[in-house]
Amino acid sequence: MRVDVSNLSQIPLPGLPASLNKAATWTVNPGPAGAEVTVSTGFPGQGLAAGLEAAVRERLAAEGQPLASFSLVSRVASHAVQGSLSPLPRVRNVIAVGSGKGGVGKSTTAVNLALALAADGARVGVLDADVYGPSIPAMLGLSGRPDSPDNKSIEPMRAFGVEAMSIGLLVDQDTPMIWRGPMATSALTQLLTDTLWGDLDYLLIDLPPGTGDIQLTLAQKIPVAGAVIVTTPQDIATLDAKKALKMFEKVEVPVLGIIENMAMHTCSHCGHVEHLFGQGGGERMAAQYGVPLLGSLPLDIAIREQADAGQPVVVAAPDSAVAQAYRQTARVMAATLALRPRASVPIASSLV
Ligand SMILES: Nc1ncnc2c1ncn2[C@@H]1O[C@H](COP(=O)(O)OP(=O)(O)O)[C@@H](O)[C@H]1O
Ligand SMILES: [Mg+2]
Ligand SMILES: [Zn+2]
Repeated sequence: MRVDVSNLSQIPLPGLPASLNKAATWTVNPGPAGAEVTVSTGFPGQGLAAGLEAAVRERLAAEGQPLASFSLVSRVASHAVQGSLSPLPRVRNVIAVGSGKGGVGKSTTAVNLALALAADGARVGVLDADVYGPSIPAMLGLSGRPDSPDNKSIEPMRAFGVEAMSIGLLVDQDTPMIWRGPMATSALTQLLTDTLWGDLDYLLIDLPPGTGDIQLTLAQKIPVAGAVIVTTPQDIATLDAKKALKMFEKVEVPVLGIIENMAMHTCSHCGHVEHLFGQGGGERMAAQYGVPLLGSLPLDIAIREQADAGQPVVVAAPDSAVAQAYRQTARVMAATLALRPRASVPIASSLV
């Protein structure tokens, strides 16, 4: 009996919108013991394998066919960057994380998304480019100084399987950073290029908040495969997020979508969810500006406590609903990027 590939490939990727189905390609061979199924994803999808296999087995069983083997293979390609820039060597994709203003949870989101991508099998780095408030070292529990083997390049530090670099690791924590725009920009682009990143699938850059000259110059100079904008319900109301969106559009950085943070409140006693600021703000904003809503994250005390303790929720409580929300958002973000054009001089794609 023939196995119908088109039928199987309509099985939705667990937790992802149907529009992202194309980020996976299916190969189905009718073997002697039943269907041999391989799904290749352009994004780290290890966490989807078990759920997808179960769905495939069920669909085949309905047609009276056994599933002989199932495997999920992920390959992350290097995607096109803005203007005449070329991708960094050793880093397949830079994802810029921006926000219209500070305090929306940009750094917390960047760190947890990085850990979520790593949990799905990707090689990930985080660059803290927030000169005004470098908070990534504390969130990842990092201290001390990074090594510099030749007094020029710097070794990234490591935490929970991700690489990290921050201006906060190089200067005294107590020294206030009152840099003027050009100084800050050149220090940050240098930090990006002088760090000896490993072979990375994704480097998430936590940009300084806002849409001033530093942000604009960074968005122009760093080869970015995609930007995401972190917003809160208030931020959407005050249109700050819109300014961030416009800034990326102005320098032709592709915006992958927006992430709504603190969208609803999860009660730490009974777990019930309340939309303090009304429901659907992120969705409305996304629809209004024609960009996807990649995910909505709750306002949850565990997120703050664990970030403060240097143990982000994705690693501190991987089975929690909150960690699941970060992993889901990270997959939607990475699958959205997977559907973007490839870089013209691609770095060899990796197996994750
Ligand atoms: N979803 C959330 N739920 C609860 N607290 C959060 C959440 N996101 C961020 N926070 C907390 O809000 C504060 C600001 O977050 P941070 O990531 O530093 O913001 P930003 O980088 O945008 O300035 C931090 O204390 C952080 O722990
Ligand atoms: Mg921050
Ligand atoms: Zn309650």
